[in-house]
Amino acid sequence: MTLDLDTPAPDAPECADDGVWLACIACGSTFAPFEDVRYTCDDCDGLLEARYATPPTFEDFGEGASADGPDRGVWRYREALPFDIGVTLPEGDTPLHTVPRLEADVGVETLRVKHEGMNPTGSFKDRGMTVGVRVAEELGVGALACASTGNTSAALAAYGGRADLETLVLLPAGKVAAGKIAQASLHDARILEVDGNFDACLDIVQELAARGKAYLLNSLNPFRLEGQKTIGFEILEAFHADHDTYPDRIVLPVGNAGNTAALYKAFRELVQSGALDVDDVPKLTGVQAEGAAPMVEAIEDGAEEVRRWEDVETRATAIRIGNPVNAPKALPGIRNTGGTAVAVSDDEITDAQRALAAEGVGVEPASAASVAGLRKLRRQGVVDDDERVVCLTTGHLLKDPDAAYEAGNDPEPVDNDVDAVLELLEE
Ligand code: F0G
Repeated sequence: MTLDLDTPAPDAPECADDGVWLACIACGSTFAPFEDVRYTCDDCDGLLEARYATPPTFEDFGEGASADGPDRGVWRYREALPFDIGVTLPEGDTPLHTVPRLEADVGVETLRVKHEGMNPTGSFKDRGMTVGVRVAEELGVGALACASTGNTSAALAAYGGRADLETLVLLPAGKVAAGKIAQASLHDARILEVDGNFDACLDIVQELAARGKAYLLNSLNPFRLEGQKTIGFEILEAFHADHDTYPDRIVLPVGNAGNTAALYKAFRELVQSGALDVDDVPKLTGVQAEGAAPMVEAIEDGAEEVRRWEDVETRATAIRIGNPVNAPKALPGIRNTGGTAVAVSDDEITDAQRALAAEGVGVEPASAASVAGLRKLRRQGVVDDDERVVCLTTGHLLKDPDAAYEAGNDPEPVDNDVDAVLELLEE
């Protein structure tokens, strides 16, 4: 299997461009990376991934300053990316918070929270877009498009705008949080609200892309995941700097399973270069909402494929997804690292969102799923009390202000008068 953790680094095929090529994870066919627009395999329609003749070591990161961009964040990892710099705002270099009260409450040796909500548009999608839009420029496309539960559309609109490219986003009507629509709108995307869920939007936008109407920047696009791979590099570097070891486990919310696939790819490449021991690879642990949990079902059933759920519902609208398109990359990631997947209720998500907020870490509901999942796995005894864990929080609190109001305290009206205020405080 090509997605095993200990597969040796591949030899570059003839089609490689400067040591980079695309390979099908299902049949192994290889393709030149930037000659044609291509999202899946010509031969078998399998998922593609970018491959490199020289996988990165930790020493490669941050070596020297790039000529025309910041030597930080995503592009600090340019040795592991297809380009040296792209359209940047800049992105990455997000905090790995300590959360002492939550750590004690969950009952693990170490708990750190990697807050991807601190990216320029407030989610991890920026890491994918900085690379994806750079590839779009290389291919010379005129317009960009995506389906989205919200965050991808916000990032696409911002990065597309910065690159001076037209952007089109398809959103499930009535199911996208206010902050995200506001971003897509002000960053000047054309927004189509579809009477259907995210999976239906993705079906349509894939067809538009196949007909050459726009360049697809959903996580089906293999280059987007290259940018998101840097989350894995950052976690390993920062955790090791503080704890002199790597985390045992990384817990993350799962929608399309792009991040799960991307983190696994980061670890595989470091193992290939000899920089990371197979035994040091963190257990990838995916969390979904109970109302949208096809990946959890597949892991629990030991299934080879994920069954598409037609009806999905959750308060965590970012992960309201029934057909995780990156499952063929993510299932091996979870299984080969010894990880697992778990489903949590909306109430558990809200509780976790409050617990994070109490430590000053403001996240949207989907992000809190990681902490809710960790708590549940601790209760079930799946996660041991001596584990060192990183939870990924994927989006900022302000993305979904309505959810924040619902989970938080209500403002109390009071008269414009000190005595009235004092009286209320003493009640
Ligand atoms: N968390 C947040 C805040 C997200 O926006 C998403 C996905 C995920 C987690 C799931 O990540 O797909 O890599 O498993 N949002 C996409 C969007 C679908 O359109 O913004 P995944």
